[in-house]
Amino acid sequence: MDINELVTGALEAREKAYAPYSQFKVGAAVLVEDNSIYRGCNIENASFGATNCAERTAIFKAVSEGHKAIKAVAVTGDPNGYTFPCGICRQVIAEFAEDGNIPIIIVKNKEDYITKTLDEILPGSFTKKDLNS
Ligand code: THU
Repeated sequence: MDINELVTGALEAREKAYAPYSQFKVGAAVLVEDNSIYRGCNIENASFGATNCAERTAIFKAVSEGHKAIKAVAVTGDPNGYTFPCGICRQVIAEFAEDGNIPIIIVKNKEDYITKTLDEILPGSFTKKDLNS
């Protein structure tokens, strides 16, 4: 896995953010099963609740192109801190993650990022396994 490509993907995607209300720009990049990468940014709306987060933009782009197995996620928001995925995005990542061990890369800048597993940031997740029992 080329972590640098994911990190750069998230940073470049952030430049496309549409965040006129919060001014808080977020970028994300997801690695899927065939090793292609999908990028996304947050897209806000005058009706605030219609806003879409960067992670979900990237995941929905991947899924809508036929990729339903995510191997890694990178996300970047605050250039001076570590911006973790919101709760809704953690749930959406869990829906498509290959397993709970996939890396979630929290990017401050190109040289400074931390990695957690999905299970670490969303312990005890509710997923399709719970519906099949
Ligand atoms: N945001 C994301 O894009 N991803 C997250 O995980 C956290 C929040 C966006 C949504 C909104 O456009 C802005 O950050 C402020 O909440």
